[in-house]
Amino acid sequence: MKRRTGQDTSITRSWRPATQAVRGGTARSEFGETSEALFLTSGYAYDCAADAAARFAGEQVGMTYSRLQNPTVEMLERRIALLEGAEACRSMATGMAAMTAVLLCQLQTGDHVVAGRAAFGSCRWLTDTLLPKFGIATTIVDARDPQQFADAVQPNTKVFFFETPANPTMDIVDLKAVCDIARANGIVSVVDNAFATPALQRPMEFGADVTAYSATKMMDGQGRVLAGAVCGTEKFINDTLLPFTRNTGPTLSAFNAWVVLKGLETLDLRIRRQSENAMKVGAFIEGRVPRTLHPGLPSHPQHNLAMAQMDACGPIFAFEVEGGRKQAHGLLDALQLVDISNNIGDSRSLMTHPASTTHYGVAEEKRLEMGVTENLLRLNVGLEDPEDVIADLDQALSAVGL
Ligand SMILES: Cc1ncc(COP(=O)(O)O)c(C=O)c1O
Repeated sequence: MKRRTGQDTSITRSWRPATQAVRGGTARSEFGETSEALFLTSGYAYDCAADAAARFAGEQVGMTYSRLQNPTVEMLERRIALLEGAEACRSMATGMAAMTAVLLCQLQTGDHVVAGRAAFGSCRWLTDTLLPKFGIATTIVDARDPQQFADAVQPNTKVFFFETPANPTMDIVDLKAVCDIARANGIVSVVDNAFATPALQRPMEFGADVTAYSATKMMDGQGRVLAGAVCGTEKFINDTLLPFTRNTGPTLSAFNAWVVLKGLETLDLRIRRQSENAMKVGAFIEGRVPRTLHPGLPSHPQHNLAMAQMDACGPIFAFEVEGGRKQAHGLLDALQLVDISNNIGDSRSLMTHPASTTHYGVAEEKRLEMGVTENLLRLNVGLEDPEDVIADLDQALSAVGL
């Protein structure tokens, strides 16, 4: 029976990551389906009113309402937690819902956050615009330098928030050094691990308290759905995050959870192949443009650190042209195979000009401080044959005189 329902956690916890990606967290229904069931239901029926009351009182195990629990969503949460090596995970409707929830659930007026300068535009909006509205101050630091985190600590600092690799400049944060500073000061370290995913980098092994994801990226990996997730200790997820998400409702739909479950089955294969492809494409681009920011290439100033923290470089890198927006847009417009698209983590190769898309909403002087210049382009290398991607880039670079 255990074998059919697949719920014996004393066995499943010991599975290796490749096994977790395919089977972790699965809970079979009475039909014994092999592929995870999709439970499209908003509510749950009770045998009697006393059962309903007992479930709401937490005295009876069971589900009450899909804003709070759903069998398909819970399978995804268990699977991500197992891959992450975290005690618990809560999924969200989008990556930004995850980032918003992970900050607001633990901060209050008077608190202080230290955040990495290079970050996805909307993450910068959270730290620079949303938090101050609630009287929460942020110090922005160059996260490549751990000392800047240490120097920014105040008695009221509650959270360190950063991404590594960072979107889109591929800055790398020394996870161990920064998480050690957080620990020593009783600060919660929150790492946005969207670019690497647990398949390539597990921040908790370096001392991170919480990891947060846009699962829209590599976890779905095929450009189909939006999703997010937050991983941490059971205490953090249940006592700090859950009261916030249960009542504010950034819940992931069961359908999207099911799609991401399917995505996770192939995450390891995809991310490793895309990393290999990104190495080939990066080596080609490097010879053609003035500057390439690719953590897998020795020319990246933090290459050694990146490779010490990550199992492979991941599918995303950035590079600079020399003729500003006109040349950057010209290059995008000349592409024939690679799509002009601001998503990442897709199995298709996609390219964007961050200054006019993903970071359009960040004030120009902040953008420039982050290194998001008019010359910068970001490329997500997909699963196509890298020689075809290189041929497309070759002709597009030639078209703009590079
Ligand atoms: C590093 C990073 N964090 C968060 C997000 C937000 O994720 P979502 O688009 O799923 O809300 C993104 C999206 O591009 C991202 O790149």
